[in-house]
Amino acid sequence: MPIRTIIEPFRIKSVEPIRGTTRDERSRLIEASGYNLFLVASDAILIDLLTDSGTSAMSTEQWAAMMRGDESYASSPSFTRFRDSVQRIFGFRHVIPTHQGRAAERILFSVMCKKGNIVPNNTHFDTTRANCEFVGAIALDLPIPEAKEPARVHPFKGNMDTVQLSQVIEREGAKNIPLVMLTVTNNSGGGQPVSMANIRAVKEICRKHGIPLYIDACRFAENAYFIKLREPGYSEKSPREIAREMFAYADGCTMSAKKDGLANIGGFLCTNNDMLAQQEKDLLILTEGFPTYGGLAGRDLEAIAVGLNEALEEEYLKYRIASTAFLGNRVASEGVPIVQPPGGHAIYLDARAFLPHVPPAQFPGVALAVELYLEGGIRSVEIGTLMFGEHAKMDLVRLAIPRRVYTQSHIEYVVEVILDVWRRREKIRGYELIHQSPFLRHFTAQLRPIS
Ligand SMILES: Cc1ncc(COP(=O)(O)O)c(C=O)c1O
Repeated sequence: MPIRTIIEPFRIKSVEPIRGTTRDERSRLIEASGYNLFLVASDAILIDLLTDSGTSAMSTEQWAAMMRGDESYASSPSFTRFRDSVQRIFGFRHVIPTHQGRAAERILFSVMCKKGNIVPNNTHFDTTRANCEFVGAIALDLPIPEAKEPARVHPFKGNMDTVQLSQVIEREGAKNIPLVMLTVTNNSGGGQPVSMANIRAVKEICRKHGIPLYIDACRFAENAYFIKLREPGYSEKSPREIAREMFAYADGCTMSAKKDGLANIGGFLCTNNDMLAQQEKDLLILTEGFPTYGGLAGRDLEAIAVGLNEALEEEYLKYRIASTAFLGNRVASEGVPIVQPPGGHAIYLDARAFLPHVPPAQFPGVALAVELYLEGGIRSVEIGTLMFGEHAKMDLVRLAIPRRVYTQSHIEYVVEVILDVWRRREKIRGYELIHQSPFLRHFTAQLRPIS
């Protein structure tokens, strides 16, 4: 009988202690932080599931590569290795390094969009929406209808609604739509994948109207693996082959290498358009740095060059997707409402269904995230009314799993804490805002419990 247990495909060489706190301590700390988990010191967090971004454990190969980092200001071999690694997977002509994903977004929208333009996406991530709106363009979300029902199971819930996309283009005119984007996987929509068929269909619509298609590629490897698992015709293909096909339909991409680059910092912007690339590089020099480092150290470029390839290794992806699904399926089997099916990098608790007595205006996602911290020192993040204001279609609490960081027993601990909070959910109250910033307010907002 073959062994069925899926194990972490690595062993641990260096360990980092994590510190437990008492409930009283956590209660004081969260109050002092205005009930905003971003503002709690990370050494007072036991299991940090705030984000999978920049929180990966690097491999021995990545650390070794970092020692090769050439810190020359211009045209270093580290850049050549980085560019070659990106091009072998993504296939675009121009590779522009940036310090992280949002820098790539800012440059892309500054160069391609003007006031009043519309940028459709399956769902814009918060930084994507903010950067798009910052240049006066309208960030339009066009997820398929199934994506709006958290409990609905669909293999590719990250897909874009292609009927709506065509209607928007007919109504607004192609000249007002400088680009269409697809976010793989769809983070704000529950970490759900986009199918190859959907990428192809979106590309076909874009091609018909002469609109470039860009992919927000942060979790491209996880998306490729979901295609392998779920889409007919792809089970025999490697994640790398699938990724290559995904990007072959696109004209460019933005990437935060802090996710499927398995790096702690970095990103890039790619395009096949020579003229745009020139404008983007000019802007890069103004704010990020010379086009062969773009705000990164040579050693960061090396870590990304290796990490992108490791993220496509099948044994790694198999463990990664299984570990996330284990967490989701265990809590769902006890009745906890989650976005179904479990996503690639995170589990999303449906806070509106978890706390039906807390209306969206009282931030049910914040209320639930605070309880997970109080109960077990777990940090998660609200993706809902606090993050998106009136655009929020759901109130979710995301438990994002850092890559190669936590073990199975950590995940089992998280299950236990969620179930304890679930059992006393009726006693949980809502929150009100006492301070907010004009952009990306969730990072610094201050709240208090409603008495
Ligand atoms: C889908 C998506 N796009 C863009 C970004 C922005 O990347 P960064 O945090 O590197 O600026 C993120 C980050 O979480 C993301 O999940």
